[in-house]
Amino acid sequence: AAPAVNSPEKVVQNVCAACHGADGNSVITANPKLAGQHPEYLLKQLTNFKDGTRANAVMSGMASALSQEDMEGVAKYFSSQSIKLAKAKENGKGSLGEKIYRGGIAATKTPACAACHGVTGAGLPKQFPRLAGQHTEYTVQQLRTFRTGERANAPMMATIAAKMSDAEMQAVADYIQGL
Ligand code: HEM
Ligand code: HEM
Repeated sequence: AAPAVNSPEKVVQNVCAACHGADGNSVITANPKLAGQHPEYLLKQLTNFKDGTRANAVMSGMASALSQEDMEGVAKYFSSQSIKLAKAKENGKGSLGEKIYRGGIAATKTPACAACHGVTGAGLPKQFPRLAGQHTEYTVQQLRTFRTGERANAPMMATIAAKMSDAEMQAVADYIQGL
C-alpha cells in the first residue's frame, strides 16, 4: 500500500495552528502571521530552518518533521489565507517609521524598505516577503536576529539591520504592523 499522505489542512490543524492560528493569523505577537505570505518565501523559510541557516530551536524541530511535499502543501495553504490587519501603534503620516519605510535613512545609507517590500508592504513576487500587517514584536525580533547573524539566510537584510538602531527598528516595525 502507498504511504498515507497527510493533507496540508491536517498538518496545519495538528501541528501549526497552536502557534500560528488555523488560518495563519497568529494571536501570539512573537509568532509570525503566515496568512497571505508568498508560498515561495514560506517554503524557503522552512528549508532554511531545516538546513540551519535560520536558527530557531522550535521551528527547526517543526521543519525537520516535515517532508518536502508537506512543506509545499502547508506553504500553499497559508499563502491562500487572508491576513487580518491590525492597527499600528505609530502610523501617522510623517512618523519616523513611515520615513524609514518609504525613504530609508540617509545618514546611514539605509535603503527604503519599500524598494524591496513594496509601497503597500505586499512584498514582491517570490522571495521578497509581505510585511504589511505583521506583529510589531515579531518584526523587531527578526531585525535583531538579522543583526546578530542568528538569522543568516538573507545577506541583504543583515547589511540593512546592521545599520539600524533599536529605536529605528521599533519605529519601522510599528509602521509595518499598521500598513
Ligand atoms: C516561524 C511555519 C509550527 C512557532 C515560522 C515561519 C514559518 C513557519 C514559515 C517563518 C515565517 C516568516 O518568516 O515570516 C510553521 C509551520 C508549522 C509551524 C508550517 C507546522 C508544521 C509552529 C509551532 C510553533 C511555531 C507549533 C510553536 C511551538 C514559530 C515561531 C516562529 C515561527 C516562534 C518565529 C521564529 C523566529 O523568530 O525566527 N513558522 N510553523 N511554529 N514559528 Fe512556525
Ligand atoms: C526579509 C524588514 C529592506 C530584502 C525581511 C524581513 C523583515 C524585513 C522583517 C523578514 C520577514 C519575515 O520574517 O516574515 C525590512 C525593513 C527594511 C527592509 C524594515 C528597511 C529598513 C529591504 C531591502 C531589501 C530587502 C531594501 C532588498 C534589497 C529582503 C529579502 C527578505 C527580507 C530578500 C527575505 C529574506 C529571506 O529569504 O529569509 N525584511 N526589510 N529588505 N527582506 Fe527586508
